[in-house]
Amino acid sequence: MTDVTAGSGRHTPPAQPESLTPLLRDRESVMVYDRSHVLGPDALRAILEAARWSPSAGNSQPWGFIVGLRGDDTHAAMVDVLSSANQVWAPSASAIILTLHQVATDEDHELAYSDYAMFDLGQAVAHITVQARSMGLQVRQFGGFDHLAATERFAVPPHWAVTTGIALGLPAGPDDDAEMPEWVRTRARLPRSRLPLEAFVHSGKFGHPADFLTD
Ligand SMILES: Cc1cc2nc3c(=O)[nH]c(=O)nc-3n(C[C@H](O)[C@H](O)[C@H](O)COP(=O)(O)O)c2cc1C
Repeated sequence: MTDVTAGSGRHTPPAQPESLTPLLRDRESVMVYDRSHVLGPDALRAILEAARWSPSAGNSQPWGFIVGLRGDDTHAAMVDVLSSANQVWAPSASAIILTLHQVATDEDHELAYSDYAMFDLGQAVAHITVQARSMGLQVRQFGGFDHLAATERFAVPPHWAVTTGIALGLPAGPDDDAEMPEWVRTRARLPRSRLPLEAFVHSGKFGHPADFLTD
């Protein structure tokens, strides 16, 4: 069994509460990956099955994924369209995946479209992050890339929208980031922060913190 707490890639102690399942407690958006790690077909399939089996409105399954593995042509084309900042760290991951959601019915009206398509894609990606974590891997999602260039490069039809990217891989060890520029090493070591539950869990009316939080 893989030790899913190993190699978190983060130097500061996690602030997440013990009440979280370890799969979520130890998830973080890693910026520095082990460049020698190869993501095999079985692992990749398992990760994409997690998306396949996530829920969606009316079971519409309005998601798509374009997968580039480090060293292949798809991966190289993806790196070309990344923002300059994301080009620094994302190629260290074993895979880069571009996500898509359906934005309209297709020409033959065979593919159903739902208003919840982007929501469903987000949920499918969340499943990917948890499945990856269960396999000792981490992901960092990103929006910083040229969406139009990606749409053209990968011949995405008009009823689909390229949405986000996912860098997926094995986190590098705590001191294996020497090849990264200083700004990446600094950012990767920043403590993680979150709003308190009271800021976004309401009861009675919006803006009123839920009673169970203040009792
Ligand atoms: C939709 C989305 C877009 C993001 N875009 C970027 C990005 O372009 N570059 C980057 O380095 N991180 C990006 N991130 C990662 C976030 O910065 C990160 O999830 C956030 O700081 C919280 O950190 P954590 O995931 O480790 O809890 C993105 C995350 C999401 C979900």
